[in-house]
Amino acid sequence: MTKEIIGNWKMNGLLSCEATFCEIMSGYAEYDSLSASADSDCEGARLTICPPSTLLYRFSSLARERDSRVLLGGQSCHHAAEGSFTGDISASMLHDCGAHRTLLGHAERRASGENDGMISRQLLAALHSGLTPILCVGEDMDERSSGRTRIRLEEQLAGALLLVREMGISMPSLLIAYEPLWAIGSGELPSVDEISQALECIMASVYDFSEVSVLYGGSVTSKNAAAILDCSDGLLIGKASLDSDELLSIVGLCYDSV
Ligand code: PGA
Repeated sequence: MTKEIIGNWKMNGLLSCEATFCEIMSGYAEYDSLSASADSDCEGARLTICPPSTLLYRFSSLARERDSRVLLGGQSCHHAAEGSFTGDISASMLHDCGAHRTLLGHAERRASGENDGMISRQLLAALHSGLTPILCVGEDMDERSSGRTRIRLEEQLAGALLLVREMGISMPSLLIAYEPLWAIGSGELPSVDEISQALECIMASVYDFSEVSVLYGGSVTSKNAAAILDCSDGLLIGKASLDSDELLSIVGLCYDSV
C-alpha cells in the first residue's frame, strides 16, 4: 500500500523557502521514477506538504510548472464558505489556491479553542470544497497517565464525524493522524505497540467509512520513522519536514524495497 507522508510546516516559511520546496519536489520525483523503472511491487509514498497558507498559491504554481506529484494541503479551515471572519481561511479558498487536502483538528488548533463540534463543521466544509480531510486526534499526558487514551480517541472521532454521519455523507477518502499531544515537538514517542493499539482503536471507530488511512504524528524523524511506517499507513511530520534532506530520507524509507 502506498504510504502517506505529510509534512506540516506549521507557521514556518517565507517566500524564500521556495528552494526547500523545489528540493523536495526534485527528490520525490527521483524516488518515483526509480520505483517506476524498477518494475517492482513497491508502491512508495504519496507526499503532501502543508505550508502556511501564504505559500500555498506559490507552491502550487511551482508544482504545476514542474508537473510534480507532490500534493498540497492547508493546515485548518473555517467552516463557512465566506463571511465576516477576520483572520480565517475557508476551505474553498484553500482549494482555490491549489490545496488538495487539509489538516483539521490539529492539537495546536484545539489548544487555541477549536472543539469537536467546530471540527465536525470544518470537515463538511472541506468535503464540500473537494479537499481530503486529514483529521488529527490524540490524548494529552493526563489522559494517557490515567489510561483514558482509547476513550479520548473515540470521543474525538465521534465528535468530528458526527455531522457527516448524521447527514449520511460519503467520503471518497479520509486520513486520520494519531498525534498524542505530549509527543508533538517533544522528542518523546509512544512505543510501537502503543501506536499500533491506538491505530487499531481508530480503525475500529471508523468501521463505517471505506477509504480510511491511519497515520502517526509526533516527533517523527528519519531515525524512528521506519518502525512506525511498519505499523501504520503513513506519517504526519512537523519539524523534520522543514529540512528537505531529512524529509526525503523518510520518504526514501517507503521505497526501500526498490
Ligand atoms: P513534530 O510535529 O513532528 O514537530 O512533533 C508534528 C505535528 O504537530 O504535526
